Amino acid sequence: MPEVRVRGRALPVEAGKCLLDVLQGAGLPVTSSCRAGHCQTCLVRSDSCAIPASARHGLGAAQRKQGWLLSCQCPVQGDLDIQLLDPARDGTPATVHSLDWLTPSLVRLRLVPQRAVRFAPGQHVTLWLDDRLARPYSIASLSGDPWLEFHVRVHSQGIFSREISRVDVGRIIHLGIPTGHIRFDTQWLEHPLLLLSRGSGLAPIQAVAREALNQGHAPGITLWHWHSDTDDGCYLGEALLELQQAHPSLTLHLHHAKQLAADLQRLHIASRRTVALAAGSPTFVEQLRRPLFMAGLPGRQIIDEAFATGRA
Ligand SMILES: Cc1cc2nc3c(=O)[nH]c(=O)nc-3n(C[C@H](O)[C@H](O)[C@H](O)COP(=O)(O)OP(=O)(O)OC[C@H]3O[C@@H](n4cnc5c(N)ncnc54)[C@H](O)[C@@H]3O)c2cc1C
Ligand code: FES
Repeated sequence: MPEVRVRGRALPVEAGKCLLDVLQGAGLPVTSSCRAGHCQTCLVRSDSCAIPASARHGLGAAQRKQGWLLSCQCPVQGDLDIQLLDPARDGTPATVHSLDWLTPSLVRLRLVPQRAVRFAPGQHVTLWLDDRLARPYSIASLSGDPWLEFHVRVHSQGIFSREISRVDVGRIIHLGIPTGHIRFDTQWLEHPLLLLSRGSGLAPIQAVAREALNQGHAPGITLWHWHSDTDDGCYLGEALLELQQAHPSLTLHLHHAKQLAADLQRLHIASRRTVALAAGSPTFVEQLRRPLFMAGLPGRQIIDEAFATGRA
């Protein structure tokens, strides 16, 4: 029977058991969110040879070199020596600058990191409130902004979102390494962009639009946003209309979620060179696949991010 050695303990483990379950089952402080390999909240470190490749899928070269792995994607196949992530040691401290309610259930959080953080607007980063509570959120601000901005939907039974919506200004929280493929790539300067978001999926999508326009993108950006039942219109409607006035190449469709199905039926793309980026709930992202395919967009030109919560 394989053994997981961690913090001076030796845990006998049934072969094939998920490392995250082993660590959390033993009461150790390991955070998790999506449990599907997307969010990086479950990182631990190990130099052992018995780590399957799946446990390092999507990690950066520096993270791999340092031995990080996704414990939710690591079936235990042999003896493992594990070091737990300590947000205070391994993360970047950031001060809460402000919290503003943009709608009754959506809060804008601005954090000022104490060290420079390299990111592309639209990528996501893990926020740790402490060593047992963390979730990934998309970066809504641009690189030159004085803070990192996040748009957090506050769920009535959500453990993290309720907690973060009540933090005091000045509190320190810790950040992981920005990651993810929702970002503007300068290779797309000659490609029309189709940007699709629902709810707080607008956070990364509007960041990509603003970054593309700042980079001089001209072939046309079409941005669709479907706002939730609970919101009274698009929560960034005014700012987006101002952006459109400054950049006529931006076309906006800001609709209520009840129009989503009908809108998707008549979705069309400006050209076969269009690149589509989408963000929102897993159901929303799934719902887009067929209409985008039917509109003639090849799969390699569709980049999406599902805000998986780890709960069905
Ligand atoms: C790559 C990525 C980027 C993301 N970016 C964003 C972003 O920019 N903005 C954003 O708002 N979110 C984002 N998310 C989602 C975010 O990480 C959290 O998953 C989300 O905020 C929910 O966290 P929570 O702690 O509030 O809810 P959790 O406690 O994790 O619960 C998850 C869901 O289950 C529901 N729930 C909890 N308890 C119960 C119960 N007993 N019965 C029934 N339902 C229950 C909650 O209401 C919630 O909807 C992103 C996720 C990923 C993977
Ligand atoms: S990547 Fe492991 S919990 Fe999300």
